[in-house]
Amino acid sequence: MQVLGLFSLPVSGLTVTVTLLAVFLVLLKWYSTSAFSRLEKLGIRHPKPFPFIGNLTFFHQGFWEAHLELRHQYGPLSGYYLGRRMFIVISEPDMIEQVLVENFSNFTNRIASGLESKPVTDSVLFLRDRRWTEVRSALTSAFSPEKLNEMIPLISHSCQVLLAHLQSFADSGEAFDIQKSYCSFTTDVVASLAFGTQLDSQEEPTHPFVQHCHRFFAFSIPRALLVLILSFPSVMVPLARMLPKKQWEEVAHYFSSLVGTVTAAREQQARGERRKDFLQAILDSSLDEEGPKATRHLTEDEVVGQASLFLIAGYEIITNTLSFATYLLATHPKYQERLLAELDAFHGAHGSLEYYSLQKSLPYLDMVILETLRMYPPAFRFTREATRDCELLGQRIPAGAVLEVAVGALHHDPEFWPNPEIFDPERFTAEAQQIRRPFTYLPFGGGPRGCLGMQLGLLEVKLTLLHMLSKFRFQVCPKTQIPLQLKSKAALGPKDGVYIKIVPR
Ligand code: HEM
Repeated sequence: MQVLGLFSLPVSGLTVTVTLLAVFLVLLKWYSTSAFSRLEKLGIRHPKPFPFIGNLTFFHQGFWEAHLELRHQYGPLSGYYLGRRMFIVISEPDMIEQVLVENFSNFTNRIASGLESKPVTDSVLFLRDRRWTEVRSALTSAFSPEKLNEMIPLISHSCQVLLAHLQSFADSGEAFDIQKSYCSFTTDVVASLAFGTQLDSQEEPTHPFVQHCHRFFAFSIPRALLVLILSFPSVMVPLARMLPKKQWEEVAHYFSSLVGTVTAAREQQARGERRKDFLQAILDSSLDEEGPKATRHLTEDEVVGQASLFLIAGYEIITNTLSFATYLLATHPKYQERLLAELDAFHGAHGSLEYYSLQKSLPYLDMVILETLRMYPPAFRFTREATRDCELLGQRIPAGAVLEVAVGALHHDPEFWPNPEIFDPERFTAEAQQIRRPFTYLPFGGGPRGCLGMQLGLLEVKLTLLHMLSKFRFQVCPKTQIPLQLKSKAALGPKDGVYIKIVPR
């Protein structure tokens, strides 16, 4: 017994270790797939998930192709798992209307990863519930037609800088990547409108604003960390939040102090002398009244957040919209000629550029832009989170579920858009728009939380094409990639740029 007693300790220790390991492995196995029965319980079809990562590999090519594939394989209501998180994907107009409009009070917020930091978290894009309502309503006046009209000279100035750079390509007839030129141009517009800073980023690539923009967009989560975060969100998200963020903090500090300096300088100026840009529009909309009793609707951090909004919501999307429009016009010379005729007539009839005439007198340019955004909507997916359990058109949606609108699948559905792969601006005549089924065209999202900068975005795209096509024609060349390859890890954009030639007019 003594001998047995001596041996019993190490044996039972081993047993305990083995038992614990076995329990751990069983629990891990259970955990690895336990999140993956929810879609099935809801009766929503989806690709088969892998343990821990769910359907992560389904998206290896990007979300654009994956959305089209989901629509093709599983219909307009499907789902997937990113790690443990469940997404319900919709591309059915009536269901979309239910989410964006009819049941808005239950679907007020987008999802957030929990890893975002200031100034991004202060922007209206990421705010939630009551604070979102307050900031959105305070900001709305920053996008009024009067404010947009005042921004036209500033956007036009950046357009002139772009044209000056492009002249050498027009003179030499050399093929070049116009997307790169648009990147510099949109950086200049963001600097000018949102940060009160005039610059020529192509000429000054080392300017701190340009450098900090690069750093702002260079942040990405390493793939291995992303997999861990998706697989073990409740542990990894708080841990990841604790990681030092020196680089990001430097960038945030740069933008915040730039806004602080510009704002302080403006406070010294009389109202009428202040630069009429988007930053000033935000500052104006953040105040109730002038004078010592002025009430701030937005905190200083929130003002920086809304200025950064232009960087987050406008920069890449506008660059890509311009690149796509240029590609489509170059590859469809017949439509380009029709557009040139309209623009020439416009220049003949209007001396200066006014918001009202740009809105009313360029119907074909509008049609071209709208059809570009149908074929290639840069913001092709957006989400809403269910606050409470509900039922939409007979489909049960549990609280916390994330609904993702698949704009690309909707815009390429032959039921709503015959021959969806064909570029045809005629789809957007006034008559065609009047009889279109609602919620089949959503490049700017929809409902009370739709794009707040839609008119500003359209104005920028319109002005740029107007200036560009007054001086040049777009032409394809042997380097033009036809059909255009796409990338869609974040916004939808051309994968390898857009190589074209421009010729003087
Ligand atoms: C062609 C240009 C643009 C396109 C295609 C576009 C598209 C979108 C889309 C699809 C959304 C999501 C809407 C939803 O969830 O229903 C959005 C949100 C938003 N966009 Fe734009 N956008 C553009 C330009 C801009 C610009 C220039 C700004 C501002 C400077 C801007 C500001 C916003 C804001 C603030 C939101 C969030 C609104 C909220 O949460 O209340 N956008 N945009």
